[in-house]
Amino acid sequence: MSDRKILVTSALPYANGPIHLGHLVEYIQTDIWVRFQKMRGHQCWYVCADDTHGTPIMLRADREGITPEQLIADVEQQHRADFDAFGVAFDHYHSTHSPENQQLSAMVYTRLRDAGHINSRSITQAYDPVKNMFLPDRFIKGDCPKCGATDQYGDNCEACGATYSPMELKNAVSAVSGEKPIEKDSVHYFFNLGNFAAMLGEWTKAGHLQAEVSNKMAEWLENGLQEWDISRDAPYFGFEIPDAPGKYFYVWMDAPIGYMASFQALCAKNGLSFDEFWQKDSNTELYHFIGKDIIYFHALFWPAMLEGAQLRTPSAIFAHGFLTVNGEKMSKSRGTFIKARTYLDHLNPEYLRYYFAAKLSAGVDDLDLNFDDFTQRVNSDLVGKVVNIASRCSGFISKRFDGVLAADCAEPALFQQFIDAQATIAELYENREYGKAMREIMALADKANQYIDDKKPWLIAKEDGKDQELHAVCSMALNLFRLLVTYLRPVLPTLATNAESFLNLPAQSWPVAATPLLNHTINSFTPLMTRVESDKIAAIVEASKESLEKPATGKSVKAAVQAQSVEPLAEPIDIEDFVKIDLRVARIIKAQSVEGAEKLLQLTVDLGGETRNIFAGIKSAYSAEQLEGRLTIVVANLKPRKMRFGVSEGMALAAGPGGKDIWLLSPDDGAQPGMRIK
Ligand code: MSP
Ligand code: ZN
Repeated sequence: MSDRKILVTSALPYANGPIHLGHLVEYIQTDIWVRFQKMRGHQCWYVCADDTHGTPIMLRADREGITPEQLIADVEQQHRADFDAFGVAFDHYHSTHSPENQQLSAMVYTRLRDAGHINSRSITQAYDPVKNMFLPDRFIKGDCPKCGATDQYGDNCEACGATYSPMELKNAVSAVSGEKPIEKDSVHYFFNLGNFAAMLGEWTKAGHLQAEVSNKMAEWLENGLQEWDISRDAPYFGFEIPDAPGKYFYVWMDAPIGYMASFQALCAKNGLSFDEFWQKDSNTELYHFIGKDIIYFHALFWPAMLEGAQLRTPSAIFAHGFLTVNGEKMSKSRGTFIKARTYLDHLNPEYLRYYFAAKLSAGVDDLDLNFDDFTQRVNSDLVGKVVNIASRCSGFISKRFDGVLAADCAEPALFQQFIDAQATIAELYENREYGKAMREIMALADKANQYIDDKKPWLIAKEDGKDQELHAVCSMALNLFRLLVTYLRPVLPTLATNAESFLNLPAQSWPVAATPLLNHTINSFTPLMTRVESDKIAAIVEASKESLEKPATGKSVKAAVQAQSVEPLAEPIDIEDFVKIDLRVARIIKAQSVEGAEKLLQLTVDLGGETRNIFAGIKSAYSAEQLEGRLTIVVANLKPRKMRFGVSEGMALAAGPGGKDIWLLSPDDGAQPGMRIK
């Protein structure tokens, strides 16, 4: 076996929020792969860090009355504790707000600049005259210049799909101060991505990307590469650009360099050579596990930055899909936006590791956490099939045979079948086809249980003079158990470690020694895993609902609202103003995409006898299928508005900053279309 040298990363989680189950798809996927590589004896390093820079973090610290440094230190603590509890075993966990990252970011930037890949010029942007800061598009709201829809973000209209610059918005206000933004010029620095068009054209087709990702990149490349604005003006929480006082690196510039910084800190800790891994002609391997939402940064900007800075490019980018819960986007109102910590308060983290493994493939498809399926799979596979083997057979070994396994293997052919399966399972792990690997392993577990069911040790035990047979059967079964647990080791490190101590074995490696344990003394059995109790899941959902409704103690409702989104509360209105708005329960009877509108869904809603046509800018968050049949709330007396795609006869109510984070309001079951909301 070649001794591979492999550096692996997961995307750096933002330091402005807690780890949730969606994030964990990625960290668990990566951790399984890393543990597998380590079991194989390869030199494999897994690094990560908190992504700490940018406007949202600066503003949140501001609101909480602490420094950004304090905020990111607190969040890092929580992130580390969550990862640790889920068995995500980084070799090093760093921060992008670190001296290593500052120095490496400066190095990459300087090299890019010296090679002629950085341009600078003055641009005009929206500026908050009260807060004295430039406003990112997402922090400006106003009316769409095309269709007049109110309360739209600075970059595009969710009602009509128009894109525009924030300065074109009508009645624009800063979401930070509520003040009207002014226009202001300032010099920005741009990374000239176009210089890398040829390189990226090749690189994105050279086997570094999954097929579906590579195709997507070809589309983007065809549309031409825009230069990328990598600077931001003060005040900004980040690194000052070396030759440009008052200018800061945009967070997405220094974030991927954070991978390097974390590895550099690891090198300092254990004497590895940084250059061996990052120099241009490195023959080590570099893999980035990421979610599908950040492919652009990793498959275009990042390889170009590395190439331009005369560093190595990644061996591969492994993108995964998004997590849904019970078939829908994670939702705070439904209690399915589950924080890692809330889950940990109630359930064993290895259940989730197994469930994700069982659902993961090498593709970018979304995966669903269905609570019934979760319970059923964990209980039937792990508890019913795997752990059960040991609990059925270990008692006889300890009580009747002094804890010593038999001297001969009862079924060498069956044992060999299990040994032979490891090549296939290894290949599936290597190729990130964990779902298939779990199916292979469970098929073996079925065979082991079949063997026990055929032999019926519990009956043999009752017969006189059958000691030897009982010994042989139970020893055989425990030998199969040992192999199953070893194959599951990358997924279930705690279960495997406990099983190893029960079996009196050192940490198992891969390939597993092809000889059975004979005449081997084991320890007494302690339960390795208990069943998932469904009331625990109900408790998690309940706790997840609460975390939104109850504002953090000591803070006003207003502060809590602001902590969720930066949108300030609107001016107070009189009750007379409120009653003018006719809010009704409506049932969505049909939902469909609108040709040419990226954000819009066309909804046909039943208002209790009356059908209306409504355009809603919620396509980034919902598919048509998710909506059909659902109840929602609409403004029923809004004057019909002519839009580019037709007339909208009302407005569906939703909350959230946009993108994937939009939650359509839904009344509880039992509400009837047409009911007025007061
Ligand atoms: N800070 C950036 C990454 C910078 S990497 C140089 C970021 N952070 S994040 O916290 O928003 O997301 C971290 C990772 O978790 C991303 O790869 C993202 O795709 C992934 N996920 C976040 N929510 C997810 C789901 N609901 N489902 C699956 N993965 C999810 O992006
Ligand atoms: Zn519009």
